[in-house]
Amino acid sequence: MKNCFVSMMLMGLLVGSCTQQPEGLNFRVQETYAARVDSVLEMMTLEEKIGQMNQYTSDFQVTGPSKNDSTKLEQIRKGRVGSMLNVKGAAETRRYQQEAMKSRLRIPLLFGLDVIHGMRTVYPIPLAEAASFNLELMERTASSAAKEAASEGIHWTFAPMVDITRDARWGRVMEGAGEDTWYGCKVAEARVRGFQGKSLADTTTILACAKHFAAYGACIGGRDYNTVDVSRLTLHEVYLPPFYAALKAGVATFMNAFNEVDGIPATGNTYLLRKVLKADWKFDGFVVSDWNSVGEMVNHGWVNNLRQAASKGVLAGCDMDMESRAYTSHLEELVKSGVVDEAYIDDAVRRILLKKFELGLFDDPFRYCSEQRQKNTVLSPELKQVAREAGASSIVLLKNENRILPLNNPVRICVIGALADSQEDMLGSWAIEGIREEVVTVLAGIKSRFKNSQVTYAEGYDLNTNKLDLEGVRRAAAPADMVVVGVGERAYQSGEARSMAHIDIPASQQLLVQELKKMGKKVVVLVMGGRPLVFNELEPYADAILMTWWLGTEAGNAIADVLSGDYNPSGKLPMTFPATVGQVPIYYNYKNTGRPCQSGFMTYTCGYLDQDFRPAYPFGYGLSYTQFEISAPVPTKSVYQRGEKIDCKVRVKNIGKYKGKETVQLYIRDLVASVTRPVKELRGFKQIELEPGEQQEVVFTLDEKDLGFYNQNLEFVTEPGDFELMVGNSSDNVRKCMISYEN
Ligand code: GLC
Repeated sequence: MKNCFVSMMLMGLLVGSCTQQPEGLNFRVQETYAARVDSVLEMMTLEEKIGQMNQYTSDFQVTGPSKNDSTKLEQIRKGRVGSMLNVKGAAETRRYQQEAMKSRLRIPLLFGLDVIHGMRTVYPIPLAEAASFNLELMERTASSAAKEAASEGIHWTFAPMVDITRDARWGRVMEGAGEDTWYGCKVAEARVRGFQGKSLADTTTILACAKHFAAYGACIGGRDYNTVDVSRLTLHEVYLPPFYAALKAGVATFMNAFNEVDGIPATGNTYLLRKVLKADWKFDGFVVSDWNSVGEMVNHGWVNNLRQAASKGVLAGCDMDMESRAYTSHLEELVKSGVVDEAYIDDAVRRILLKKFELGLFDDPFRYCSEQRQKNTVLSPELKQVAREAGASSIVLLKNENRILPLNNPVRICVIGALADSQEDMLGSWAIEGIREEVVTVLAGIKSRFKNSQVTYAEGYDLNTNKLDLEGVRRAAAPADMVVVGVGERAYQSGEARSMAHIDIPASQQLLVQELKKMGKKVVVLVMGGRPLVFNELEPYADAILMTWWLGTEAGNAIADVLSGDYNPSGKLPMTFPATVGQVPIYYNYKNTGRPCQSGFMTYTCGYLDQDFRPAYPFGYGLSYTQFEISAPVPTKSVYQRGEKIDCKVRVKNIGKYKGKETVQLYIRDLVASVTRPVKELRGFKQIELEPGEQQEVVFTLDEKDLGFYNQNLEFVTEPGDFELMVGNSSDNVRKCMISYEN
């Protein structure tokens, strides 16, 4: 009853002030908290309401262009601040919360932080974890990160980043789940479940935040913050689904993107925020802007000044202003002058208050501030074990010539490369609470695991200049029968505002590998980075190549677990690795076009004159120390009626000599449809572990929506017709069968 009263109130307000209720303003607080939220709202002055929509960073850490402002504590005491970011630690968050308790209504602050891949215990970067294709593990690292963050007073993480991207030049590819929309949806769900758990009232769970809404990963040229220009159809088909998946998983908040969509900045984009998110999807959480993105609508040339930015942002559905001060500076006057109806303020504040109630902060504003819990939780052995397991599971074996891996009790190993002894780089970007001295390097991990071997080390190249020291390498490597070389980019070369026009591994490092091979050594190359990288020059000289990304606190132990065979590598690439940056954007689920690409150089086809169009390594690729045989898929029948489940079976056999895990992938192709469809689309994967000689049947089940897509009218449809079903261990290594789907 109360709810419809609130809605009627809202409706009444709006009907009184405008002809029809704007979309996305039909928000209703669920029964449990409706009365409590509204009882607080009714006591609030307009100034206090606007205060809840205002978020500042602490000054000891900033994650964007910051403003000097010594009045933040005073504003908190006056109820002019609803949330702080970059405040961390039980003691520090308590200090700020105590200031909020001096305000008239004592509304608790919300503490947000970028807990992207761990807090003090740092897990592999999200792109690396996506390579594990282990959704349970990703949920576990998120819940482990939430537990540690909550113990440090954090209520809210600005994660998961669910931006799909097909452009390895973009620095923020390291934060996401790669290029595939369907898989991105699964990862989004897993991470939201991990962060938020079963109840936000649990002091080991925190609010999650689906970001950056929307299509940030489509920035032209891979240049961060750049213009996004995609069709409505591509927006709905490729970029929006992981956000919807996060919403269906219960994500508490969204963060809008910096970029424009359809010529309108996402921060003020009514179509995205009011229509799609709040009206169509019925989102009941709140939207926080990205850092200063409200104010940056002036730079976009879409508004004249900060006042107009405040008006456009709140009307569009951006509920909380991170750091721009547009809302706290202008909303009160905008409401009093009738430009903005107070119903929009009430809508935003209800959403924000609801989350504070759900966290239990009104019952106890200090319930997350326990130094004892912090001491017991941070960097615990359990959390480090999760990091180590996640690290090993994220490693992708790209090459293993003559099966030189795993290293069976090698006598003499030489570890080479400054990256192999760099604690700082193992953390990767967005590891803002990680402490480099707590990181296990590759060198330390190998020394610890191969205690009975002679392990020597040579820096090989200067970490900053990449200048080679071949003499030093020759001396150190001379007695070794196995060299393990760490090469790649630096951790600071990926992440926010870290886009790269070139994605080749430094030439000197590639030359180093060539020299080592010429010395007659067995060469294992560890490629490290936060994005797909190009390393064609070293590839022929490497006996084995592992993509080890940035694996966090336990990096060295995880890598040693794989090198030793304690963990048989099972990772698969979540993003295509180009043969050259000139191919970017490059992705596996491309359209066939009217003149399809053929391997080799055929004129009048959709290829290049100077480069084979195929990537160096495709989506879904990854080897094991053992080998698996996967049979052709067999559907239970060849014709299915609408609504029928579609089953297809394969047999998987371990024909090698090691126990191992295979990620069997299912792709579909809709051969003819009302809009063109990709040559293949991932629609399922199963990870199975088999002993040598063991075989197992794997059944994939598809339903109507798995065959569906957005049509010209932006309706999600499944059309009758013929489909290929493809099953294999990589997007470029599949066996097919055909089915027909009828109305
Ligand atoms: C940054 C990022 C965003 C992050 C926020 C707060 O600019 O774009 O992902 O959550 O600011 O640090």
